[in-house]
Amino acid sequence: MVIFALHNNFLYMFNLVLFGPPGSGKGTQSENIVKTYKLQHISTGDLLRDEVTRHTPLGTEAKKYMDQGLLVPDEVVIGMISGKIDDMPDARGFIFDGFPRTRPQAEALDKLLEFKGTKINLVLALEVPEPELIKRLIGRGETSGRSDDTEEVITKRIKEYHQKTQPVASYYDEQGKLERVVGNHTIPETFKTLSKHVTKYLLPVA
Ligand code: AP5
Ligand code: MG
Repeated sequence: MVIFALHNNFLYMFNLVLFGPPGSGKGTQSENIVKTYKLQHISTGDLLRDEVTRHTPLGTEAKKYMDQGLLVPDEVVIGMISGKIDDMPDARGFIFDGFPRTRPQAEALDKLLEFKGTKINLVLALEVPEPELIKRLIGRGETSGRSDDTEEVITKRIKEYHQKTQPVASYYDEQGKLERVVGNHTIPETFKTLSKHVTKYLLPVA
């Protein structure tokens, strides 16, 4: 049993939550972090959109919520995440983008990781003023094809964020894991700030 534990890669993982409102740059910065630190990217938004595109039962259920700018029920999202982590046992660590988004999701993630012998090490919260979020998402909507990038749905997504997701920041702050980062500088400048935090835990891969 001891030998198994020593060889369990989950023990050595670095796991990061990239937190922030819609349009704060979670997806953009995740790409940069993945390239620099070779972490595995888990974006619940991307996973759900993939289910929608493939017309799976999960996707059909999720679409009802996503098109209205509402959060998909916790049990649907939590079930989806567990399998993804199991699929990548050799990962250097994970970057969670857009998850957890409610306190029950955060508690479920902690339990799931604890069961695997690992944990969340750091939560980086991107802070961007609301008018800038709306401007970015409307701009992205012109080319993204995302059905939720309309002004009406963007407003609902931001409201949902304030009501249900913001409390997750306090959850991690109480654990001493939360770092707030100004997210309305340029993309490279914001990445530089994020990197300073990550590098305290994990060296970049050349
Ligand atoms: P999801 O896909 O997670 O969307 P979101 O959180 O609303 O955030 P976005 O992806 O729109 O923004 P982002 O922060 O990734 O910003 P990005 O880098 O793209 O969720 C979609 C839906 O799925 C939810 O509404 C919900 O229904 C469901 N869902 C997903 N996860 C769920 C969960 N855990 N529980 C329940 N439901 C869930 O940047 C935005 C734009 O800004 C881009 O055009 C980018 O180029 C630009 N930009 C980025 N950084 C900068 C910068 N520094 N300066 C200028 N422009 C910038
Ligand atoms: Mg995103």
